[in-house]
Amino acid sequence: MLHNSSTHYGTIARLLHWGMAALIILSLVVVELHEFFPKGSGPRAAMMTVHFQIGVTVLLLIWVRLAVIFTGKVPPIVPAPPLWQHIVAKLAHLALYLAMIALPILGIVMQQADDKAVALLGMQLPGFVGVDKDFSKVLKEVHETLGNIMIVLIVAHVAAAIWHHRVQKDNTLLRMLPPRANS
Ligand code: HEM
Ligand code: HEM
Repeated sequence: MLHNSSTHYGTIARLLHWGMAALIILSLVVVELHEFFPKGSGPRAAMMTVHFQIGVTVLLLIWVRLAVIFTGKVPPIVPAPPLWQHIVAKLAHLALYLAMIALPILGIVMQQADDKAVALLGMQLPGFVGVDKDFSKVLKEVHETLGNIMIVLIVAHVAAAIWHHRVQKDNTLLRMLPPRANS
């Protein structure tokens, strides 16, 4: 089913969730690994290109995802967890959405302020700011701090999904998988 049912997230929501999860994790892996390659080397530049391309793609897809998620009815978790868990989960999802919007914007603006053009698949993005190296340095600090907070959030998010599945033994994770695989 394309749209959410009473028991599962729909195909569109699942594709967006797992596709963007894979892209974001890859972009985090490459940005952490690029430091192991010498400055100016091909692999280092290629890894950063992957980081930039994924970031800009995430900024485009997140609006589709928000539209899909907020127009669909979220399938209830069975058995229902306590209210506090529901609230913490919603806040964590909100923080992840905000990170998926803020991080690419910070990334693009900090690159442009550093006099480096940003392109998606070879198409150059319009310039949103003038060159200002000091401003770029501040944005880079913010981008890196927020990026690291996002890593912590993702680890907690994945741990929560596994915990629901293995310890609480509810359908939190199964709802995000194709219906036929588990019913
Ligand atoms: C979903 C989007 C993004 C996420 C989750 C993300 C996350 C991160 C993380 C975790 C770091 C490393 C922080 C550290 O070393 O402590 C980083 C660094 C960086 N990011 Fe992003 N980022 C995203 C998008 C972008 C975009 C769109 C650009 C530019 C167009 C960008 C440019 C950079 C740059 C230049 C660095 C610094 C690399 C270095 O010199 O060490 N990022 N990002
Ligand atoms: C790879 C391991 C991952 C697993 C096992 C996982 C699992 C899940 C599960 C079970 C849900 C449903 C939760 C609910 O309905 O209360 C969910 C939703 C969500 N996940 Fe993940 N997730 C993973 C990676 C990620 C990553 C990397 C992000 C990064 C931003 C993310 C962001 C979200 C968001 C925002 C939601 C809310 C619904 C939506 O927008 O799709 N997840 N995840």
